[in-house]
Amino acid sequence: MLNIAVLVSGNGSNLQALIDAQKHSRILNGKIVLVISSKTEAYALERAKKENILTETLLRGSFQTQEEYDDALLRLLADHGIDLIVLAGFMTILSNNIIRNYENRIINVHPSLIPAFCGSGYYGRRVHQEVLKRGVKLTGATVHFVNEITDGGPIILQKAVDVMEEDTPEELQKRVMQHAEWELLPKAVALYCAGKISVVNGKTRIKE
Ligand code: GRF
Repeated sequence: MLNIAVLVSGNGSNLQALIDAQKHSRILNGKIVLVISSKTEAYALERAKKENILTETLLRGSFQTQEEYDDALLRLLADHGIDLIVLAGFMTILSNNIIRNYENRIINVHPSLIPAFCGSGYYGRRVHQEVLKRGVKLTGATVHFVNEITDGGPIILQKAVDVMEEDTPEELQKRVMQHAEWELLPKAVALYCAGKISVVNGKTRIKE
């Protein structure tokens, strides 16, 4: 059984999708044992507590240096024997030190079809604003492993979502979450826990 830590900063709807998948036995061989928030007021913490999942809050601002923050995070992950880290709306950038320690063991969900609308500066509502500004007809979500390049790691799953002409960024964000993110993230975690994802030459291979 793999121990999963989910890192959050906000509402936690993707965390909820993972919890629901776990409850419905759609994630075998894996268990969410820890939720770490970068913000004290994140509603995601309430969602975790409701399910009796252990929570921790780690504020980057409480640490003088990146090294001190990294040490605290690595210790926390080691103390709980974490095998897989899932970034579900986590707004703090992980250092290369953390990424190297968990190579191909950190999964992120990004609200666009990578390599479009991704990279530094593309996060949260901003992604959907840029999608609407450009006038693309399709957007979507991508679940990928995290490497040292922002949104540049091996892609695990992607799903397209239609953009409607009258969409506001909020409406589009909601559709991308409902139709893509909440489906893809638990699916990718389940595949990982089942040992069905391998990485060859920077690309994933999935045994379905
Ligand atoms: C999601 O859109 C995710 O793709 C992005 O941040 C948002 C988090 O939403 N990285 P939630 O906290 O899971 O509701």
